[in-house]
Amino acid sequence: TWTMEHFIDEKVEEIRKGVGDKKVLCALSGGVDSSVAAALVHKAIGDQLYCVFVDHGLLRKGESDQVVDVFQNQFNMNFIRVDAKDRFLDKLAGVSDPEKKRKIIGNEFIYLFEEEAKKLDDISFLVQGTLYTDIVESGTDTAQTIKSHHNVGGLPEDMSFDLIEPLNTLFKDEVRRLGSELGLSDDIVWRQPFPGPGLGIRVLGEITEDKLEIVRESDAILREEIKNAGLDRDIWQYFTVLPGIRSVGVMGDGRTYDHCIAIRAVTSIDGMTSDWARIPWEVLEKVSVRIVNEVDHVNRVVYDITSKPPATIEWE
Ligand code: XMP
Repeated sequence: TWTMEHFIDEKVEEIRKGVGDKKVLCALSGGVDSSVAAALVHKAIGDQLYCVFVDHGLLRKGESDQVVDVFQNQFNMNFIRVDAKDRFLDKLAGVSDPEKKRKIIGNEFIYLFEEEAKKLDDISFLVQGTLYTDIVESGTDTAQTIKSHHNVGGLPEDMSFDLIEPLNTLFKDEVRRLGSELGLSDDIVWRQPFPGPGLGIRVLGEITEDKLEIVRESDAILREEIKNAGLDRDIWQYFTVLPGIRSVGVMGDGRTYDHCIAIRAVTSIDGMTSDWARIPWEVLEKVSVRIVNEVDHVNRVVYDITSKPPATIEWE
């Protein structure tokens, strides 16, 4: 009968046999799939695995440090963090079209990943966190025809590695169980889906560091309160968006003219369709009060109550 320990033993054996004494590369995004795939391959071949984490500066608050902490400090992997925040911001300066932003982020990511891969010579294999459902659904994802999905962690097209896809027989819930079994924390194993372009598509229009800061801080407050309310595993995705609209407010004796933050929270099975999450009003109130009090330059908070379709989950 199928058990998780049995699966791990079998995969470890299979990976060791397939890899021999060769070197293996993995692009870590911090997401569930690439994290679990890396942990499993690391269990099999240890220091023969090299993980590259391209930090584009568009991650959520604390996320980049967490990835470093888990893979470098906890797992002790051969770990390369590419701090490319300035590079990405430079490339994105003045660009406001969503699809252009996606392309720039995706291309730059691949470029930087390739550069790192070239520095490590003799790499023979590439780890991919492909799930069973990714294979079954590929080509039928209508979302792809609406927004190009540059999945950070995706395979550079002209690089010739043999692929190791140790999760390609598993469903998401099995991947989570596997991750826990391998010693990954709940924070990683139960992480909500996060788009490759990250906060770059949650700052609508042109991206600046100041705007990113507003999204990062407001998003951290939302996440904290959703977790405190015990709702973090029930809601598919929950995040904040900076529409870039300013509106009038009043604070103390003074008039303000500042940013508005939108909260987006949806329930979904697979991201293809979704409904807006019925977050209790008390929780929304707490989030709203905290955001205007704690995040500079925000004087208004609104809640997005559209389903998909006709809206999409992300605003860009
Ligand atoms: P939409 O906004 O199309 O999103 O309803 C559906 C799901 O896809 C995620 N998403 C992306 N993921 N690169 C990604 O890797 C992207 O460019 C991208 N755009 C949207 C979104 O977060 C949701 O889970």
